[in-house]
Amino acid sequence: MDLIRTASDLRELTSAWRADGEVGLVPTMGSLHDGHASLIRRAREDATRTLVSIFVNPAQFGPGEDLAAYPRDEDRDVDVCRGLGVDAIWAPPVEEVYPSGVPLPEPDAGPVGETFEGAARPGHFRGVLKVVHRLFDLTGPCRAYFGQKDAQQLFLIGRMVRELAIPVTIVPCATVRESDGLACSSRNARLSPEEREQAGCLFLALSEAAGLARAGERETAVLVAAMAREIGATPMARIDYVAVVRDVTFEAIARIDGPARALVAVRFPSARLIDNLLLPGSAGAR
Ligand code: PAF
Repeated sequence: MDLIRTASDLRELTSAWRADGEVGLVPTMGSLHDGHASLIRRAREDATRTLVSIFVNPAQFGPGEDLAAYPRDEDRDVDVCRGLGVDAIWAPPVEEVYPSGVPLPEPDAGPVGETFEGAARPGHFRGVLKVVHRLFDLTGPCRAYFGQKDAQQLFLIGRMVRELAIPVTIVPCATVRESDGLACSSRNARLSPEEREQAGCLFLALSEAAGLARAGERETAVLVAAMAREIGATPMARIDYVAVVRDVTFEAIARIDGPARALVAVRFPSARLIDNLLLPGSAGAR
């Protein structure tokens, strides 16, 4: 397995790979967990060669966010990738991603980029699209793998790829969950044992919404109230937002009339967690 640091080495390696097969890219910020492992396994099934990028992207962290405290353990991540049969890791210093004085494309996240995670973290999606665009440009992947836990990110990346006609297939991968339903996330490691015990409330809330949708409820206010009740009953959790969005536009809706997704964002004293679920029965709803 190659461990490369520079943009030019990355271009050279991936263009050689493309000459005789398909390149799968798994973009990460490191601190790899079971969710990343499932993306990597999927990439290895599909592609001839798998590249994992490990880069804690400063452009997607706002002032006062947890950039400095973001968990980093490159040696462990390298071992995980080696164990999973990854072909190469790109773990660049910041100057290789953002060379000073070089203006890089900054795709517009548009109004959807200002809602939910974008409202809670202004500028976040501008930074995500900038780094993902740069990764696609340097790597030229045939497919890129993203987890559905970050549904809004996945929506915006998919839209960027369509609007800019970037020749890559985005592969959405199912959220990997712990036994109580908590979605795998690098931020889970920050939870105290007591917070961790209560963090299952996100999935419980989403499951309540799913149960109501399955039973035919179409008014999203009913689902939102049920999710808020579940999280509100969890002593250490504070709601950031709960909502139901139309899956194809990511806009909040009052009535389910097609594929819809329930979203939750919750603050615990040590970490802010997000999760979402595509609502069952919503695909055919009118
Ligand atoms: O989801 C993440 O880990 C990051 O937002 C990504 C896509 C690697 C961009 O930095």
